[in-house]
Amino acid sequence: MRVAEIKDKVVAPGTREDPAPGLGQALIRVQAAGVNGADPVQVAGFYPPPPEAGVAADIPGMELAGEVVESRAPVPRFEPGARVMAIVAGAAQAELAVIDERQLMPVPDLLDWTQAGGFPEVFATAYDALVGQANLRSGQRLLINGAGGGVGTAAVQLGHVLGADVTASVRTEKNRAAVEELGADRALAPDEAFAHGPFDVILELVGGPNLVENVKALAPWGTIVVIGVSAGFEGTLDLRRLMTKRGTVRASTLRYRTPEEKAILARELEASVLPLVADGRLRVPIEAEFPLDEVGAAYQRFTAGGHLGKIVIRP
Ligand SMILES: NC(=O)c1ccc[n+]([C@@H]2O[C@H](COP(=O)([O-])OP(=O)(O)OC[C@H]3O[C@@H](n4cnc5c(N)ncnc54)[C@H](OP(=O)(O)O)[C@@H]3O)[C@@H](O)[C@H]2O)c1
Repeated sequence: MRVAEIKDKVVAPGTREDPAPGLGQALIRVQAAGVNGADPVQVAGFYPPPPEAGVAADIPGMELAGEVVESRAPVPRFEPGARVMAIVAGAAQAELAVIDERQLMPVPDLLDWTQAGGFPEVFATAYDALVGQANLRSGQRLLINGAGGGVGTAAVQLGHVLGADVTASVRTEKNRAAVEELGADRALAPDEAFAHGPFDVILELVGGPNLVENVKALAPWGTIVVIGVSAGFEGTLDLRRLMTKRGTVRASTLRYRTPEEKAILARELEASVLPLVADGRLRVPIEAEFPLDEVGAAYQRFTAGGHLGKIVIRP
């Protein structure tokens, strides 16, 4: 099969033996696989897949959509040919992938392959952060830092359908109107966004440099959820101010969760998020798609920044 391959800290097209599914796994013919923030970091030699996941560390890709070729689950949920999508520990950017069958979700009819390939990682991350960790509720004030990217555009839409008042902090000016169309009550430059507090929930996708302003902008009993650190993983945490706010700082990654934890999250998405995709209330904004042969260009486009939503590879 053809794959995206990491060699000497560069990603380029390559070839591998076709994988074979083990017991409990499904073999997927990948139609689309999104690029995520962790992928260029993995190419650069950091943030490898967890060894126990058993996926090749030199094939990136943490989400995919495609057709089931074969399932070796004891009681398969999906027949051969079914349209499925999933978060995976790695090796999604390839023509074929094997995956724990429990992590698969059905693809709603409204999503084409490119949109489906860009859905799982960012919507799972945003849903887990806003609902699972911050317990975001209707009427609460939500700030999303880094709202124009994949996770951010998912979080804006989820915050909106949950009934929150959504402030989107978007660095690239040209993307602000589109982020408001997705459901943000206001999309602002980062400095202006902080001034619209206080916020009950702050979703941090940019990282350490925002920590001081986040704590200042937090409402009493508010929660900061740290999910991305692309601008730096160190910052100053004013504990005195955090105490007076009775505030909470949480942080999480999806990649190192167990297959069981990922399967539970997939069931939660099936119950609470996919129905909203199926009726058109949630969508997957696509900035660009690239064939596997142009995987290097896809990564360059992603790391250049300024994109709205997802960049997706089509094997
Ligand atoms: N913890 C987890 O499980 C998990 C899961 C998925 C993703 N993540 C992380 O979450 C972050 C967001 O992921 P993504 O897929 O949405 O990435 P993305 O599509 O690249 O979006 C990142 C957003 O952050 C903005 N940004 C980056 N640096 C900034 C800075 N210094 N100041 C202001 N804005 C800045 C970008 O703005 P411009 O494009 O306008 O420059 C962009 O809108 C990444 O760090 C990713 O690694 C974590």
